[in-house]
Amino acid sequence: MEQHRFGPLKREVPIIGQGTWNLEHSNRKAAIAALRAGLDLGMTHIDTAEMYGSGEAEKMIAAAIAGRRDEVFLVSKVLPSNASRKGTIAACERSLARLNTDHLDCYLLHWRGGAPLQETIAAFEQLRAAGKIMSWGVSNFDVDDLEETWRIAPGQIACNQVLYHLEERAIEHAVVPWCEQHQVAVVGYSPFGHSRGFPGARGKGRVLEEVAAAHRATARQVALRFLTRRPSMFAIPKASSIEHMTENAGAGDLVLSDAEIATIDHAFPLGRTRGLPVL
Ligand SMILES: NC(=O)c1ccc[n+]([C@@H]2O[C@H](COP(=O)([O-])OP(=O)(O)OC[C@H]3O[C@@H](n4cnc5c(N)ncnc54)[C@H](OP(=O)(O)O)[C@@H]3O)[C@@H](O)[C@H]2O)c1
Repeated sequence: MEQHRFGPLKREVPIIGQGTWNLEHSNRKAAIAALRAGLDLGMTHIDTAEMYGSGEAEKMIAAAIAGRRDEVFLVSKVLPSNASRKGTIAACERSLARLNTDHLDCYLLHWRGGAPLQETIAAFEQLRAAGKIMSWGVSNFDVDDLEETWRIAPGQIACNQVLYHLEERAIEHAVVPWCEQHQVAVVGYSPFGHSRGFPGARGKGRVLEEVAAAHRATARQVALRFLTRRPSMFAIPKASSIEHMTENAGAGDLVLSDAEIATIDHAFPLGRTRGLPVL
């Protein structure tokens, strides 16, 4: 599993991680076994949020990482409605309790809401000083929000977690360049398009199948590797079976040539929309 340095942190993180939104809708035992299998396969970046299943996903993760906490790069998120100074600290304490851990590796503001950024950031810094979080970042932030955050806390943003899949590449216009210039990790969520679905083999997906065949890989592995082709990029597909988890982990060792990347780029063009899309 290839690893990249995670933004400004010293830590290397696998390029393919594990998402957990809607995990609570799966069979609990099977989903926990899948998360564990994901760790065995090197997908040690686990992404969650207090929002997911109203904390249920965090509880399932606690069961999956029991006895293995040190292997995991554990990320959770505070809801904007909790993101006041006191609210952020209380939300983090609740997440830590559900996850049965004493620290998060990274704590994110889920999206920009009504709480003043200064307050949320002050809470993040307080949590970091107390050793409850190792780093903090943001999610669904456009360049204006990133600039504002940077002005308050230069050099402190570990990552920006944003929507990124083959049919939605808007972040490449301005968000990715900004993040690369400021050494902020770009964590792409919904890499298979969430409910929009993955491109079918009869349509544009045929290109993915052709590239995959040359590597004895799958179209989804090719897509994940395309979405993590730059050193700033990570992807966090969600999977609730060992079979899906194993397929996704296989992307972490795939090497695409420049010509293959150009072919995929051509089949799934960037598009003109510059604004940041939100799922
Ligand atoms: N920050 C944010 O605002 C935000 C927003 C959305 C998502 N996220 C994060 O990003 C993660 C991933 O995004 P997502 O859950 O929206 O969607 P996604 O990863 O694009 O797609 C998940 C779907 O793909 C299926 N799948 C996974 N691997 C597969 C495989 N190898 N073959 C066939 N199907 C496969 C899953 O099925 P099974 O479950 O049956 O395996 C699930 O139905 C989330 O779980 C969450 O952690 C963050």
